[in-house]
Amino acid sequence: MTKRSEIYKCNICGNLVEIIGEGVGTLVCCDQEMELLTAKTADSSTEKHVPVIDKIDGGYRVYVGSTLHPMEEKHWIQWIELNADGVSHKKYLNPGDQPEAIFLVGEATTVFAREFCNLHGLWKG
Ligand SMILES: [Fe+2]
Repeated sequence: MTKRSEIYKCNICGNLVEIIGEGVGTLVCCDQEMELLTAKTADSSTEKHVPVIDKIDGGYRVYVGSTLHPMEEKHWIQWIELNADGVSHKKYLNPGDQPEAIFLVGEATTVFAREFCNLHGLWKG
């Protein structure tokens, strides 16, 4: 049984799938069950992945992380998501970009952010 907003990964080809409608079936890619990713919320290494949210005029700035994450060809943040009062906003990034995203969504009561590092997986802050 899947749940909305879950992220699944194919460990063979790298496909990432986000659930936007729930179902009872098993997600399969490359003839193998896809892995349900659990967002990590703390890291102890010097490379920081937990997204940081700053309130700015008109919205929020989300960056990765407290020490800026590399954005190199082989190691980068693929996307940053801000959830503001249950509405999901996503920015896709490329190597060479800054590991940050500006979301001009106004003021929200509840916000959280997720990001995906191509090597180190899913993180939430
Ligand atoms: Fe990383």
